[in-house]
Amino acid sequence: MYSTEENIICNCMNISEHEIVYAIKHRDVQIVQDIIDITSAGTGCGSCIPELEEILKRERGF
Ligand code: FES
Repeated sequence: MYSTEENIICNCMNISEHEIVYAIKHRDVQIVQDIIDITSAGTGCGSCIPELEEILKRERGF
């Protein structure tokens, strides 16, 4: 069952898709680095950064 609450994008920092989408919608996110700074997603191994980019594009409707 798909759940945005439970969908962990960044395993290193245990950051869910929900937290990332929330940051994009409610904080001043312009670029992927803003998501990293706000949520700390991507500050471990870095392997989730392409997923952060995908989510940002999707939420922006690009
Ligand atoms: S999975 Fe996000 S930094 Fe490693």
